[in-house]
Amino acid sequence: MKISVLAENLSGSEIIKIAGEINELKKQGQNIANLTIGDFDSNVYPIPTELKDGIIDAYNHNQTNYPPADGMLNLRESVSAFLKNRMGLEYAANQILISGGSRPLIYSTYLALVDPGDKVVFPTPSWNNNHYCDLTGAEAILVETRPENNFMPTADEIAPHLKGATMLALCSPLNPTGTMFGKKDLEEICDLVIAENKSRSADEKPLYLLYDQIYSQLTFGEYQHYDPVTLRPELKDYTVFIDGGSKCFAATGVRVGWGFGPAFIVNNMKAIVGHMGAWSPKAEQVAMAKYLENETDVNTYLDHLKGNIQASLSTLHQGFQALKADGFSVDSIEPMGAIYLTIKIDYTGKTTPDGKILSNSADVNFYLIKEAGVAFVPFSAFGTGEEVTWFRASVGASTLADIQQMIPRIREALIKLK
Ligand SMILES: Cc1ncc(COP(=O)(O)O)c(C=O)c1O
Repeated sequence: MKISVLAENLSGSEIIKIAGEINELKKQGQNIANLTIGDFDSNVYPIPTELKDGIIDAYNHNQTNYPPADGMLNLRESVSAFLKNRMGLEYAANQILISGGSRPLIYSTYLALVDPGDKVVFPTPSWNNNHYCDLTGAEAILVETRPENNFMPTADEIAPHLKGATMLALCSPLNPTGTMFGKKDLEEICDLVIAENKSRSADEKPLYLLYDQIYSQLTFGEYQHYDPVTLRPELKDYTVFIDGGSKCFAATGVRVGWGFGPAFIVNNMKAIVGHMGAWSPKAEQVAMAKYLENETDVNTYLDHLKGNIQASLSTLHQGFQALKADGFSVDSIEPMGAIYLTIKIDYTGKTTPDGKILSNSADVNFYLIKEAGVAFVPFSAFGTGEEVTWFRASVGASTLADIQQMIPRIREALIKLK
């Protein structure tokens, strides 16, 4: 039976396919370390106690009816203060929109700014821009990035694509790589956006910037998060930020996201999110408003979470560097932020003990799932070509002990490939 052209053409998630394979093997009794999903095991990484208590308390006080369409005013005020204190960003409550996690904010930014056929420029690998382009009928302009730049886009790579584009979608720290923009690189890209907008007349649609900084509180060591509006304040009129509590408070199931930008855009996003009914649950908003105000609790939680995530990422990174030093065709990029490590496993074209040739990174991944009990996600799931031999490892759903145990298993599995 006929369904909509949009529904027919939507591509499924490669990560969900990998999850299917893992579940099948788990049913057969195999123990698989699942480094695929950009989530947390909430028994390893519970949400902040004060946030949890606040949510329970809000339900006990019957905070269960519709929240305002743009979010509870006290939460938008807490977010406003949080942005000012942590990043020096000045956004008033009416420039902030709350939704059920940050996905509806991304989708509503696309719907508010991008018409079918409009060009949206984004780097690959990156997270889900391809799907949002499919949903809005936008023309996706993929900009391939390079390992020597930590898979972050450069101004030189982006410049040829901005003429006539409606939106540039950037993310830092980046899912899937766990790498981030340096100051100068982001400044150069900002200057391109400013120059492009100067070249357009007042009745043309400007070039907007979607800046996803959902991992901005999860940075390690000396790595510092930069944003376009702090670096170039004149970009404030063109930039929509995506942010929220899902990752920094390991609260992916709590569903409180915040987006901010020019009030006229945020107002339109509010109408769209409202029609989808994609607002954040009221009790969670009440609790998040209170939690964000307590800087000491937030700092204590973030220090603890970052310490553990960084330990897992560094252990995995060192494990891959040790394999590389021993002559294996692998590599990894130093973790800078988020919950991801970028790893290279260059075994395409090799033959398994039962005679199967691994023809691409998806084959290599399935081989490691079966043989080493470890699952990653090939970068092809994030928009790169099939020939790319890099993968994302996500550590939020594993313990440090799980990660320590997987390196010898990977070593054994790779030795068997000829
Ligand atoms: C870069 C990025 N932005 C946004 C999201 C969506 O987050 P949420 O769970 O708040 O919808 C994710 C989730 O994986 C992400 O990686």
